[in-house]
Order: sequence, then structure tokens, then C-alpha cells
Amino acid sequence: MRVLVTGGAGYIGSHTVVALVEAGHEVRVVDSLVNAHRASLDRVRTITGVDVPLHVTDLRDADALGKIFADGSFEAVVHFAGLKAVGESVAQPLRYYDNNLGSTISLLQVMERHGVDALVFSSSATVYGVHDAVDAMPLREDLPLGAVNPYGETKVQIERILTDVADADDRLRFAVLRYFNPVGAHPSGLIGEDPQGIPNNLVPYLAQVAVGRREKLLVFGDDYPTPDGTGVRDYIHVMDLADGHVAALAHLAEFPGANAWNLGTGRGSSVYEVLHAFERAVGHELPYEVTARRPGDAPVSYCDPGKAERDLGWRAVRSLDQMCADHWHWQRDNPNGYAAD
Ligand code: NAD
Ligand code: UD1
Repeated sequence: MRVLVTGGAGYIGSHTVVALVEAGHEVRVVDSLVNAHRASLDRVRTITGVDVPLHVTDLRDADALGKIFADGSFEAVVHFAGLKAVGESVAQPLRYYDNNLGSTISLLQVMERHGVDALVFSSSATVYGVHDAVDAMPLREDLPLGAVNPYGETKVQIERILTDVADADDRLRFAVLRYFNPVGAHPSGLIGEDPQGIPNNLVPYLAQVAVGRREKLLVFGDDYPTPDGTGVRDYIHVMDLADGHVAALAHLAEFPGANAWNLGTGRGSSVYEVLHAFERAVGHELPYEVTARRPGDAPVSYCDPGKAERDLGWRAVRSLDQMCADHWHWQRDNPNGYAAD
């Protein structure tokens, strides 16, 4: 298939480009590089041997996007492009609504104009809101949606837009993939997550502690109603996630309209379990200190991934140890991310 990947120079996008190319798809990327380096796609070429064209364009520029579509005769789009930092979205809500909604609306209009009917969209576990009750787990796709911050609200609203647009035209096929906690990197160590500034998320933060860029991990609360008192999440290897997109594209024709699938392992791991898995990857203990809970955090979040297995024939296969080993390989070989390229 000829596939356009928006945000394909970013973390999940670059890994998915590798998986798509290896599955035999012809891929092009459009990315504004607002949160990515073009070096990621140079590294994709090293991994795959294929030169994936990059169009440096903001999706909100519908004229420029139209030219890319006129040239590409795409059969499907995988849409990663968006801003994703929760705290930043609280401080700059308009920037988030403008970028995430504006780019999606522009993309859908250009797709309509060029008769492209198939889209895979990056949604998030954040659309389920925060469940304080541990027995609300596992999270299933038919739960009501409710965001608790502007970033999450952009995902909820985009899901609604996709549903409305697909309801109005029965040719459309939209796969909404709700990712749980993506971590890890390609096993080559050539591509990986390269957060700007202080990482917000557990594994990128731990990786920077391990490489000496941060003093110690701050564990956000050890008094949750969980087996060891720390927060539990459904971490998923980014290569499993990438394979989930390949599976969604392969099965999209069977599912008219807009349909949502959780992409997670279905297993929860605590902060301490992740810390110890990362220590095994690094080969020594890592410093940490328990501090206050982070406001707005749920005690536990993990999904039921059964719908993706039934419908798409996909399930996550990589372990937490593999996630940490691959994340560490990337961080150790690239202590400052892509900055040196
Ligand atoms: P990322 O920031 O690495 O990738 C997003 C890419 O989109 C970047 O390369 C950025 O430059 C590009 N971009 C942003 N706005 C754009 C615009 N208007 N036009 C063109 N390009 C634009 O993030 P990621 O972790 O790879 O996430 C990819 C997608 O998955 C995002 O939509 C994110 O919200 C979603 N998601 C991520 C996570 C996670 O934990 N990483 C979890 C759930 C969902
Ligand atoms: C993040 C996102 C959320 C998204 C989800 C899945 C934030 C604030 N939230 O939350 O929108 O839906 O990923 O992609 O970014 N922790 C520490 N110390 C740290 C960092 C985290 O103890 O330095 C703990 C947290 O309290 C939590 C766990 O580690 O229990 C995981 O945190 P994180 O990686 O930020 O993921 P989510 O909380 O799921």
C-alpha cells in the first residue's frame, strides 16, 4: 500500500515507519519537525535500507498538504502528528487545540478531496479519564470517554470528529488506536524516544538517570492501593505498538466506519517493577527517592487488549525486560538523543 505517515519523524512514528517498510508498504512522511529531528529518518534508512521521503510541512497548511497528496496517490494515512505533553497542554491549551484539532481537520479535508478513505489514528488511554477505583480495570473500548486535561480532550474530540465524518460517508474506514504506555526502542539502538527538556514519563526519566543526566528517580507516591504502593501502568514495547499499526492497516477494509482498539499488553507493572527491570538492563542499582503523588495520577491503569487480538490478529509479545533493555540500548548509545547528528 502507498501510505502517508504524519508525524513519522517522531518517536512512535519512526518505529512504525520501520515496521511498515518491512511489511512491504511504500511510505512517505509529513512532519513539521516541531518535536522531532530529521536524523530519525536517516536512521530509519540505515535500519531498512529504504530512503523514506520526508516532507517538512505543518498539516494545518492545507495547500502544501494538498500538493503532497496530489503527488503521492496514497491509499491510506497513519496519523501520529500532534503535540502530546500533558502539562504543556494545561499551560497552553489554545496551542494544543489549534495544533491537534486543526491538523486533523485539515488532513481529513485533504483526504476527502483526494479520495483517500483509510486512516489509522493515534489515540491514547487518556481518553478513559482517571479511574480511582482499581476494580474499574481492565479498561475496555466501550467505556464512556472523559478527558481530564486539554491534551486528552483533543484526543476525545478527534475521536468524535472521526466518528461523525465516518458516519456521513460509508466508504470511510478509520482505525482509532488507543495506546497505553509506549516505551522501549528499536533493538538496533538507532532510533528511540528523544524527549526535549525534563522527561515527564517514567521510563525516559529513568533512562536519563541511568545515563547520568538526572540525579535520581522521584517515585510519585508509594501509598496507592496497589501491591507495592506505587502506580501501576500497562507498558507496551514501541515495536509491538508499531506492529499494531501494520495489523490495523491490513484489517481496515473489514471494519467500516470509525472503530477503536486498545493497544496494550493487558498487564500492569508498578513503578518499582519498572525500576528493577531497568536496573537489570543497566546492570546496577539506580538511585531513587519517594516523593508526593503527582496530582491527577490514577493508581492503576491497564487495558483489555482482547478486541485487537480478535479483530486485528495482533497482540503484544515483548516483555518488560525487553522494553527496558531496548530503551537502555538506545539511551546508552545516544546519551543526548539525536542532538549530536
Ligand atoms: P512525538 O512528539 O515524538 O511525535 C509526534 C510528531 O508529530 C513529531 O514528530 C512532531 O514534530 C509532529 N507534529 C506535531 N504537530 C504537527 C503538525 N501540526 N504538523 C506536522 N507534524 C506535526 O510523539 P509520539 O510519542 O511519537 O506520539 C505520536 C502520537 O501518539 C501523538 O499523537 C501522541 O499524542 C500519541 N500518543 C503518544 C503516547 C506516548 O506516550 N508517547 C501515548 C498515547 C498516544
Ligand atoms: C502518561 C500521560 C497520559 C497518557 C499516558 C499513556 C502524563 C502526565 N500523562 O501518564 O496522558 O495517557 O502516559 O501514554 O504525561 N512516575 C514516577 N516518577 C516519574 C514519572 C512517573 O513515579 O518521574 C510514575 C507515575 O506516577 C505513574 C507511572 O510512573 O504511576 C507512569 O507515569 P508516566 O510514564 O508519566 O505515564 P502515565 O501516568 O500513564
